[in-house]
Amino acid sequence: LLLGGAAAGAGAAALVGADALISGRFTAPADPAGGVRLNGEETVPFHGARQAGIETPPQAHAKFVAVDLDDDADAEAARRLLGLLSDDAAKLTQGRAALADSEPELAVVPARLTVTFGFGPGLVERASPAAVPAWLRPLPEFATDRLREEWSGGDLLLQICADDPLTVAHAARMLAKDVRAFGAVRWVQDGFRRAYGSEAGGTTMRNLMGQVDGTVNPEPGTEDFDRLVWNGSDAPDWLRGGTGAVVRRIAMDLDTWDRLDRPGREDSVGRRLSDGAPLTGDDEHDEPDFAALTPLGFPRIAEYAHIRRARSEDPAERIFRRAYNYDLAATGAEDQDAGLVFVSYQADVDRQFVPIQRRLDELDLLNEWISPIGSAVFAIPPGCAEGGFIGETLFD
Ligand code: HEM
Repeated sequence: LLLGGAAAGAGAAALVGADALISGRFTAPADPAGGVRLNGEETVPFHGARQAGIETPPQAHAKFVAVDLDDDADAEAARRLLGLLSDDAAKLTQGRAALADSEPELAVVPARLTVTFGFGPGLVERASPAAVPAWLRPLPEFATDRLREEWSGGDLLLQICADDPLTVAHAARMLAKDVRAFGAVRWVQDGFRRAYGSEAGGTTMRNLMGQVDGTVNPEPGTEDFDRLVWNGSDAPDWLRGGTGAVVRRIAMDLDTWDRLDRPGREDSVGRRLSDGAPLTGDDEHDEPDFAALTPLGFPRIAEYAHIRRARSEDPAERIFRRAYNYDLAATGAEDQDAGLVFVSYQADVDRQFVPIQRRLDELDLLNEWISPIGSAVFAIPPGCAEGGFIGETLFD
């Protein structure tokens, strides 16, 4: 019996003995080369020039927590809160208990936990109104928006990601406790991808419509990525080494999507469902040929196809997408409540995200089955060194 989980993470599939299955316990199999490292033991550094959780290969589970600061929480209060949160995030991400951790046993499986902080306009204004970048505000209204207050806005974002859902839940609870004296949770969005180990690392994720989602994306660690995502000298000083985040809750109408045949589904995006290849190519990463025509003379990738509409001729007008699926049980007569927690990072939301969203708003066949129901924009400050706190550049 092959087990792809922890063992695959160590680069090898392992045989699990029948004894382990009968006893119901899985112990990492002995490895003559020095033992298998469990994925639960893996850590991602918290401290550094940039925050973790953006370039980090996406973990299986995510919780996005937006916080509203109390009206009387001033700059000093915000600074104290960020200090507490940073200390606890630094500990939890390294598999150590948070301050006054009520369940310290839950902290010992970091499973690549990252906590990424984002600041809404309300928080930055508290520190200094002049520090708010022009793009840090609610997005302009789009015709296809069906936004709900309960999924929109927020002063502070905590993006908590790990390969283990219990780790995520524990970290979120510990951080929410820190928040209590300063504000209240405004919304929480849970998201998931395939379980860790179900697929080879680096496989592009699939969303609940079945599509391969995330193929055309800047590559972390490249100059291209740095230019598009990380803020440089044209950003406010405090934000250098940071970025901008857009979080949109986008509902999918999977019941009507079900009624569309396969060619229709593939045409709506311009890519094959089987492997994500463009309709004009053979492999997922083949360049789409937007000029190709069908024998009848129609564009092979339709004018309304999502990938044609999402692509700009301006190479600076690109974003880094790192989305998660959500799927809540349907209750009673309600349809399934499923969709995408769409998350993108870009140095300048106005220059990069907004023109893409505008084009998709004007024309994109996918709009027949998707509607944005939540929207928030955050500035992601740079990282901090040990002993520092996230946001210190803003409060200097
Ligand atoms: C590409 C699905 C929302 C921007 C794609 C692809 C799929 C997809 C299947 C093709 C594979 C890939 O390159 O990732 C969806 C679904 C959405 C959604 C299901 C909503 C539920 C959005 C939004 C934006 C966006 C809100 C930005 C405003 C892009 C971009 C590409 C893309 C930039 C790459 C286009 C290119 O080939 O250059 N999306 N998408 N998508 N999507 Fe979306």
